[in-house]
Amino acid sequence: MDDTRAAPVEPTAYQRFDRYNRLLHGVLMFSFLGLAFTGMPLLFSDAAWAVRLAGLFGGGRSAGILHRTFAVLLIACFVLHVWRLMHRLYVKKELEVLWGPESMTPQPRDIVEMLAHIRWFLRLGPQPRFDHFTYWEKFDYWAVFWGMGIIGGSGLVLWFPEFFSKLLPGSWFNIALLVHGEEGLLAVGFIFTIHFFNSHLRPDKFPMDPVIFTGRVSHHELMEERPAEYERLQRAHRLDEIEVGPAPGWVPTLAKFVALVAVTFGLVMVGLIVYAVLFARL
Ligand code: HEM
Repeated sequence: MDDTRAAPVEPTAYQRFDRYNRLLHGVLMFSFLGLAFTGMPLLFSDAAWAVRLAGLFGGGRSAGILHRTFAVLLIACFVLHVWRLMHRLYVKKELEVLWGPESMTPQPRDIVEMLAHIRWFLRLGPQPRFDHFTYWEKFDYWAVFWGMGIIGGSGLVLWFPEFFSKLLPGSWFNIALLVHGEEGLLAVGFIFTIHFFNSHLRPDKFPMDPVIFTGRVSHHELMEERPAEYERLQRAHRLDEIEVGPAPGWVPTLAKFVALVAVTFGLVMVGLIVYAVLFARL
């Protein structure tokens, strides 16, 4: 019997993030790390490490200039992201931006999947069958989106006090300083622990998930981690549309390096903050 038929070739990978989103995420990472490392020395200015860290940037004044430079980058990222969403919605009429499996809008299925996930953690039920975005990915996204408005808005008030003094009562400047520092601390705490854990440090992904750098997931990953998406695309004969070849060899290597540096810097910053809080800013 002739058994030389070739086994079906498994597609190498599927596209999850396009170049625009990968680039924006790269700039977001870089600017956020820069803002954290130039902002935290101001918030913990009585800690010895803060003085040394600000010294690495050339002192408090140049740390402030760098902080504003990173802020411009982060605001640009935010504007470009919202601009693209608006373009997809109003020009390309892609209503799926607002609702459906590929939308970031929280939907009833997210609550159902979250409860099912908790049951699965407790060994009380099967693992939920996730689609394109999971409930925790939406949570991470909205935490940053909402945080940007608060941190960016209060940061601009601190940056341009003369202008805002024409619009706001004086007490708002004290509130802006308080809100900016505390929200900055919350953002740093959230991104450098929960977001890092969700994306890189959880057992399925440890030590890191290169998807946001390569933009690709393997056939196996898509089927295992997002079975509802895989089946939905298969039913609609849309898998071919997102099939891509492997990333050039240097991309995963660079991705691992960049992610390792970012995670290490983030965890060091969390360590410094915990140290400053526990040891009375020694
Ligand atoms: C995105 C737009 C942002 C703008 C326009 C902005 C602007 C500013 C300005 C003008 C200051 C005062 C700096 C000085 O006195 O030299 C400041 C302080 C600070 N920023 Fe930002 N910032 C932004 C984002 C962030 C982010 C994302 C973080 C956290 C990662 C952050 C953390 C801080 C902290 C902790 C302080 C010190 C607050 C204090 O002294 O109590 N900032 N920011």
